[in-house]
Amino acid sequence: MPPLAPTVKLNNGRDIPALGLGTWQATPGEVREAVKHAIDAGYRHIDTAAVYRNESEVGEALQEKFKEGAVKREEVFVTSKLWNTCHRPELVVPTCKKTLADLKLDYVDLYLVHWPFAYKEGDEFYPAENGIAITTDIDYLDTWKQMEECVNLGLAKSIGVSNFNSKQLSRLLEAATIKPVINQIECHPYLNQKKLIEFCKQRDIVVTAYSPLANPSITMPAGGLPLLQNPKLKLLAAKYKKTVAQVVLRYVFQLGTVPIPKSFTKKRIEENIRIFDFELSNDDVTDISKLNKNYRVFPHAQAKHSKYYPFHDEF
Ligand SMILES: NC(=O)c1ccc[n+]([C@@H]2O[C@H](COP(=O)([O-])OP(=O)(O)OC[C@H]3O[C@@H](n4cnc5c(N)ncnc54)[C@H](OP(=O)(O)O)[C@@H]3O)[C@@H](O)[C@H]2O)c1
Repeated sequence: MPPLAPTVKLNNGRDIPALGLGTWQATPGEVREAVKHAIDAGYRHIDTAAVYRNESEVGEALQEKFKEGAVKREEVFVTSKLWNTCHRPELVVPTCKKTLADLKLDYVDLYLVHWPFAYKEGDEFYPAENGIAITTDIDYLDTWKQMEECVNLGLAKSIGVSNFNSKQLSRLLEAATIKPVINQIECHPYLNQKKLIEFCKQRDIVVTAYSPLANPSITMPAGGLPLLQNPKLKLLAAKYKKTVAQVVLRYVFQLGTVPIPKSFTKKRIEENIRIFDFELSNDDVTDISKLNKNYRVFPHAQAKHSKYYPFHDEF
């Protein structure tokens, strides 16, 4: 059996595997194969969301692996997320149940509020006018009460948030009966999020790092060198006899986060989990941290008019 990733303790005593498979941007059929291959390669943590429109396929892949006996339900950590169009409190529990039906699971290990702002509800995932998102002023604190209900009903073992800034987290922590266990945020050497990671650490909230490779499929602004082509990282990859992606993922892990790289390429799925057999020196971590330029792959600028938009504040 391939070596598994270590686990990290959440503030409710549960464990999350320290690396997971991202599943966004799939064409039909791709994600099923990727999830199955990932399980075979030692992944025990899968990240999905209603808005990725692939929960059924993720569920099919998991069922196949359960039936094969490759893995048991309780050995896999599955995360999904409540989309922005479903923040109205009455929608939260039914939306979570729909996700469970699609995933063919009785519970998710982690259910996240995908963004702090809400969109107009309806069938469209991205309601917009002239490229501007149609938002509503539903308060995420009201949504959160029903996220807690998902735990009370046994639909989710843990709950958390994604893309929340420090002020939003503070406000949530003051009101919450059940504390969020996770804040899932974009994190890579070009946006290393040191302040928000420290803020979360002090409050016993684990950070999951999305787009840990700065998503090379998204074109950088003019003149920007894609992260995986960075010469400094190439030198470090040669020094540690690893690939640039492995050095980047190890860096993100050593920042104290749980990276969830997405790959649907077998070789890369295997490559990305092999980061637990080496350690970057403190000097090299410091050197990589100098690459930070607060570059966001996903500024989600179409919602920047919302009063709950998270990225106007420094962190
Ligand atoms: N909460 C949120 O708002 C949010 C936002 C964005 C993403 N996410 C989650 O985070 C996951 C990861 O983020 P992401 O998909 O944006 O970006 P990412 O993981 O940084 O990058 C994915 C891209 O990198 C390529 N890649 C993967 N491994 C590689 C390797 N070893 N060498 C070279 N290229 C490699 C993949 O190509 P191939 O597939 O062709 O290998 C894919 O194009 C998502 O899938 C999703 O689950 C959450």
